[in-house]
Amino acid sequence: MLQGKKILLGVTGGIAAYKAVEVVSRLRKAGAEVRVVMTKEATEFVTELTFREISGNPVTVDMWAPVQHWNVAHISLAEWADAVLIAPATANILAKAALGVADDMLATTLLAVTSPVFFAPAMNCNMYTHPAVQENLEKLAARGAHIIPPGTGKLACGAEGPGRLAEPADIVATMEKFFKSGAQLSGVKVLVTAAGTIEPIDPVRYIGNRSSGRMGYALAEEAVARGAEVVLVSGPSALTPPAGLKNFISVETAKEMREAVLREAETSRVIIKAAAVADYHPKTVSDQKIKKNDEELSIILEKNPDILKELGQKKQPGQILVGFAAETQNLMQYAKEKISKKNLDFIVANDVTKPGAGFNTATNLVKIVSRDGGVEELPLMDKREVAKRIFDCVLPDELKK
Ligand code: CTP
Repeated sequence: MLQGKKILLGVTGGIAAYKAVEVVSRLRKAGAEVRVVMTKEATEFVTELTFREISGNPVTVDMWAPVQHWNVAHISLAEWADAVLIAPATANILAKAALGVADDMLATTLLAVTSPVFFAPAMNCNMYTHPAVQENLEKLAARGAHIIPPGTGKLACGAEGPGRLAEPADIVATMEKFFKSGAQLSGVKVLVTAAGTIEPIDPVRYIGNRSSGRMGYALAEEAVARGAEVVLVSGPSALTPPAGLKNFISVETAKEMREAVLREAETSRVIIKAAAVADYHPKTVSDQKIKKNDEELSIILEKNPDILKELGQKKQPGQILVGFAAETQNLMQYAKEKISKKNLDFIVANDVTKPGAGFNTATNLVKIVSRDGGVEELPLMDKREVAKRIFDCVLPDELKK
């Protein structure tokens, strides 16, 4: 999977820098082309010459060194890379990357990179478990970076605990796995809807729901990770669209969501409707803010179009249509009814009364029900993991390569 891939390796100043030499050797044996950027501190542990010999390419350390191969070195290195690996990643580079500090060649290059980034941390166990380091790792992971966790054991400093650089073979295996799954949906268009729609009452008020968009964003992230051409149509959400997503369409109302979805649907191979679409909207929207005059206020609601049902009616041959069903009772019965009523291939059903399931939680507890009656019941898990399992389940055999 690494044949012909261009890997930019960042080596930072930790004792595990010597292990990065083996990482380069393994990457090259697997067919990758490797260029190395070292921090000045890293050169205290291993020489530039070692990495130059083992990578077969010049090594960059200094931002201000005379230009040899590139016009603007950090930009061209960043553009060149199919992936960036920082191994070992010290607490310092994690903090700088998390904050966006650009005070040397490696940190500056990291800011210019648009390809996937992997961090393999290595440090003393107390440093590794320090909340500052953990927060930085979380921040980087939330932005789409891949963290290759350290091993646990006796560390060079004599302490025992987590912090030992992951084995070079495991680091390379992680990257191989990434490129393998990253190619799975290459050329396949995936349309995902997320978050709730909001339906205006007057210029300052609306009817909304509790959906945060987390499930839909996790699905879009997973589809991007598998190399798909992803379109995410989202109602208002506090979340940041996944890194690497090219087509993000922001909508407010069910009507706007319908327009965007119908425009994109025909050319989409897989459509997953995780959005919590409002079933009704106020029949009339007041031009002016409604004043509190009477004791009671009635708002007449009018039915919204059922987008998923319309997609089911217009389904293209080979298209996979996946709906969501948030229920508070008779989960399986309603789920099965929705599959046939809306002409779906799968429905992801969750009982939103269960703890940790449904709206505005980091986790979900779902059953994936297929058109032929098959049910995959998943335990309570992180929405990102649920997203993975949904794709594993709903993709047709020819896309499961
Ligand atoms: N959905 C949609 N358009 C709507 C309402 C819902 O596309 N106007 C989609 C949702 O994105 C979700 C699925 O339909 O994938 C299930 O939504 P739900 O509200 O549970 O279905 P309803 O048909 O509205 O069923 P009910 O209100 O009877 O539970």
